[in-house]
Amino acid sequence: MSFVVWLIMVVHPVKLVYANVEGDALHSLRTNLKDPNSVLQSWDPTLVNPCTWFHVTCNNDNSVIRVDLGNAALSGTLVSQLGLLKNLQYLELYSNNLSGPIPNDLGNLTNLVSLDLYLNGFSGPIPVTLGKLSKLRFLDLSNNRLSGLVPDSGSFSLFTPISFANNLDLCGPVTGRPCPGSPPFSPPPPFVQPPPIAVPGGKSATGAIAGGWLSLVLQVKGLLKEKKLEMLVDPDLETNYIATEVEQLIQVALLCTQGSPMDRPKMSDVVRMLEGDGLAERWEEWQKVEVLRHELDLVPLPNSDWILDSTDNLHAVELSGPR
Ligand SMILES: *[C@@H]1O[C@H](CO)[C@@H](O)[C@H](O)[C@H]1NC(C)=O
Ligand SMILES: *[C@@H]1O[C@H](CO)[C@@H](O)[C@H](O)[C@H]1NC(C)=O
Repeated sequence: MSFVVWLIMVVHPVKLVYANVEGDALHSLRTNLKDPNSVLQSWDPTLVNPCTWFHVTCNNDNSVIRVDLGNAALSGTLVSQLGLLKNLQYLELYSNNLSGPIPNDLGNLTNLVSLDLYLNGFSGPIPVTLGKLSKLRFLDLSNNRLSGLVPDSGSFSLFTPISFANNLDLCGPVTGRPCPGSPPFSPPPPFVQPPPIAVPGGKSATGAIAGGWLSLVLQVKGLLKEKKLEMLVDPDLETNYIATEVEQLIQVALLCTQGSPMDRPKMSDVVRMLEGDGLAERWEEWQKVEVLRHELDLVPLPNSDWILDSTDNLHAVELSGPR
């Protein structure tokens, strides 16, 4: 009996404290923000944990894994306590009016997969600590007022110029602008634009959207980018799926829709990628190619423009040809 009491006293407070740390961290964010639309109204710090708050998602251990506050008209600055959300995977704060620095403490979020801070007024340098985030796969800091060197250590090696576009004064290799006082770097190798190929019917497909299945592909890419997985998954599944697996499946499927048949993965590659081998690399590689194409076309790069990829070499009949 006394052992049971001891157990309750020892185990229970630990769990409560753990949950409160995260609720307190988010509540300190709330108190730091102006929230004209009251989207944070449900963030009641007297609850045992933040798992019932709107825009917050927890795992089965009542630990926060997502904060989804994109497009919420919030202004104010972030707080360093966000670094206490040990299991946070998605921090979505895009399209607000947030300002001030990006806290170095975000580099403590070792489980972070996605950091979307685009379309805000963040200023100052990009914390080099974010390079430590080995699980980070989506980083978008574009359309802010950031300045200084874009780090290239660790996870930064995964990201392309599009993640940093349209800021105040960023420099470093990924931006194509050397920082003041640093030696110039060699320019990237020249890119040869493939010639447009006429599609059956006589019209060039270059730059055009062929409608039908192709616009579907673009839509799926957009939804994937916005991580609106719930719109891509059979509603009957409700929440009984693993988001990262769905994301990977869709990435493989999209890789199989590329314009040139030579670029599409072979069936043996598809099997390997579905087993988790080489997908991340191949996906990242593809996005890099897309960014290069855009820059060569000299089109402006609004945030989600990468989804409108080139339809060069589009031959619908080749899509299902033997490989
Ligand atoms: C993040 O990690 C640094 C270095 O270990 C530490 O000094 C800082 O207090 C941590 N921040 C938070 C919010 O836990
Ligand atoms: C964003 O914040 C700035 C200053 O904090 C303010 O002047 C501006 O009106 C805000 N814009 C929006 C859309 O809320």
